[in-house]
Order: sequence, then structure tokens, then C-alpha cells
Amino acid sequence: MYLMATRKRIIILGSTGSIGANTLSCVDQAPEEYDIIGLSTHRNIGVVLQQVKRHAARAVAVTGPIADAEKKELDKLKIAVFTGPSALVDLVRAHDFDLLVNAVVGAAGFVPTLEALEKKVDIALANKETLVIGGQIVMRKSRENRVQLLPIDSEHSAVFQSLLGENYADIEEVILTASGGPFRTTPAAELKNVTLSQALHHPNWNMGKKITIDSATMMNKGLEVIEARWLFDVAVDQIRVVIHPQSIIHSMVCFVDGSVKAQLGVPDMRIPIQFALTFPRRQRSDFPRIDWRTLRELTFAAPDLDKFRCLALAIAAMRAGGTAPAVLNAANERAVAGFLQQQITFDRIPVIVERAVEKHAFVSHPTVEDLLSADRWAREFVDRLR
Ligand SMILES: NC(=O)c1ccc[n+]([C@@H]2O[C@H](COP(=O)([O-])OP(=O)(O)OC[C@H]3O[C@@H](n4cnc5c(N)ncnc54)[C@H](OP(=O)(O)O)[C@@H]3O)[C@@H](O)[C@H]2O)c1
Repeated sequence: MYLMATRKRIIILGSTGSIGANTLSCVDQAPEEYDIIGLSTHRNIGVVLQQVKRHAARAVAVTGPIADAEKKELDKLKIAVFTGPSALVDLVRAHDFDLLVNAVVGAAGFVPTLEALEKKVDIALANKETLVIGGQIVMRKSRENRVQLLPIDSEHSAVFQSLLGENYADIEEVILTASGGPFRTTPAAELKNVTLSQALHHPNWNMGKKITIDSATMMNKGLEVIEARWLFDVAVDQIRVVIHPQSIIHSMVCFVDGSVKAQLGVPDMRIPIQFALTFPRRQRSDFPRIDWRTLRELTFAAPDLDKFRCLALAIAAMRAGGTAPAVLNAANERAVAGFLQQQITFDRIPVIVERAVEKHAFVSHPTVEDLLSADRWAREFVDRLR
């Protein structure tokens, strides 16, 4: 007797972004394996309309503003349309599905993750801000509800893959690699003069604007330290950041016996995304391979924490715990928005973030509501400062 293979039913939050679009191109590698239940955008309605049609999605969520003409186009789809600030949660709540791909940027990804945890649906997590804001609560809920959290971030996917078949108690150190971004060799004194287009020009990865700026300040690596602390249940002191400009080794784990395991590949997000989609299987792909004939060197260096203050601030916020990482994250989002709108210079980002973390009313054991209110406070604080 032949058993019909069941399709994996997925919802992709943030399908119009860099990770979202790459997720859909992974789906295109084996379309017969997936049912696209839902997609979402903030304001890119033209793109989401095309995605819905191409992938026969059953529902769509739009969190940002919608013009009347766009509303008409959405209505013509004759599928469920969720709008407004609660649209992502409404989409997750309304449907039965097997995997949530959370590819939204920023704190907006946090509450929908909590909703998927309540529904006991596995989560492929690109939205690192979820774990930065509420890592302790998210990890507790995922254990209680037996929800698998599959990291999409290439570093965390590398650590996750290095840990397959291993005992987490045998981790001595998690080694997160970092490209160093576009200003790796720029003298610290010149950071105040760097332009937006220089900051948006990442040497190895093609990503959304916010994470690209976070990579330039190295806040991204700081957020990833926090993400790793929660995903792999290690102390902050067990996480080492190493500059590796080639971005070929995506991260490593050193075990208690001194053995080190790493995961390598070309810098192409489709590789970790596909692994999260097909886990525990691997699926053949036509994604590019490392060319060992031309790869000359893999180099490593320690990060400069004085120059990249954001990395130091994130590590300090993690050590402080409580509401500090949520405030750091929200302040960073608003400071980065200010830099993207060319209202502040690049070197102001860490100054603003540090001030917000110092000034906030710290809560040591926050509830979800405490975290959301710390996030709101930090945004208002930074917007007054900018
Ligand atoms: N890009 C990468 O290679 C990469 C690698 C590792 C981890 N990540 C993480 O993955 C997440 C997504 O990154 P990305 O580079 O794909 O970002 P992106 O290209 O900016 O896409 C973000 C997605 O989120 C939507 N969105 C924006 N603001 C929103 C809001 N307030 N509420 C709901 N949805 C909103 C966007 O909609 P619109 O299209 O309408 O703006 C878009 O669909 C981030 O957490 C990032 O740190 C990304």
C-alpha cells in the first residue's frame, strides 16, 4: 500500500521581505511538498498579491496602511484578509497549519510567535528580535508545549546543525562568526562620517535594510548572542564572537573534550531556510556550492568592542537580563530608523541605545505585558531624543 505524502502547511509572516522571498524560493524547489496557508506584508501589497496568486495562499495579512484601490484588489482574491495591528496574530489564530516561518523584522514578530506557541505549532524563526525581547518566556513555552524552534539565522542554524546528535550539556563554547560588516577595517574615528549607502553595502549578504545597518554597527551580532543564549541554553560567557570576513564558516561549537564542530557553506540564506523547512530531512538543492579551487583562506580575529559599541551594549543588556534586552532592541530599532531616514549620524546609534537602557525603569522578572510596555517606552524615549 502506498501512503500519500502529506504536504507541510505553512504560514510565512513577512513573506515580502528578504527572508520571506527566499523562503518562497525554497518552496519552489519542491512545491508539491507545501501548502501555503498564509502570507503577510506590512505595506508591500503589490508584491504580496503576486505571491498569494502564485502560491495559491488561502489567507493574507496586511499590518500597514492600505489604500482603497489596494483593498479592492485584496477583496478580489476571495480569501481571508486580515488587516491592522493584530493581523499577524489573527492570521496565526484562524488557521490550522504545521509550521510558522517568522520572517518579520523587529519587535512586531514577538506576539505572533507567542500565538504560535499557544497553538503548539513548530516555528522556523528568522525574527531574532522575538528571543531578544522575551527569550526566557518563549523558551519556557516552547518546552511546555513541545514546540520545535528551528533557527533560520545562519549562525544559529550552524550551531543547531553542529549540535545534532550531541548533548547540550557537553557544550563548552558556542562560537558565533561575524563578517565584521562594511566597516570592519574603518578607523573608529571615521564612523561618524560614514554614509547611508556605505552602511547599506554589506560585503557578503544581501538582506533587509534594518539587519544590514545592524550588521554595520555589529548590533546584529549582539542580538545573535542573546538569541544563542536562549536557543542553546548557554551562559553569555559561553558565547564567543569571532570575526570571520569570508562568511564561509557560519558558526561552531566547542565541546567539553576540546573537539570543535562547524557548519560551512556559501553565504546564501536559502540553505538554512530550506533546512528549517525540511528538518529533520535534508533535501537536494541547486543552491551554489563552495568552490574549493578558488577559496584561498579562512581568517579569524577578535571583535573590537570599543569600536563596535553596539555589540558590547547587547552583551551588557543580556547580562542585566529582565527588560534590558527589550529596551535595547526597541531603542535600536528607532535609532536605526532615524539613521535610515538620515536624521542622525551612524555613530549616534550606540549613544542613543545606551541612554535608553540606562534611563529605563528596569523590571527583573518581566511578564509579556512588562516587555511590551518597556518596548513602547523605549520607542517613545528615542523618538523624543532623535
Ligand atoms: N535577511 C537576512 O538575510 C536575514 C538573515 C538572518 C536573520 N534575519 C532576520 O530575519 C528577519 C527579517 O529580516 P529581512 O532581512 O527579511 O527583513 P526585510 O527584508 O525588511 O523584511 C521584513 C518583512 O517584515 C515585514 N514588516 C516590516 N515591518 C513590519 C511591521 N511593523 N509589522 C509586520 N510586518 C512588518 C515587511 O513587510 P514590507 O515588505 O511591507 O515592508 C517584510 O515582509 C529579521 O528579524 C532579521 O534580523 C534576516
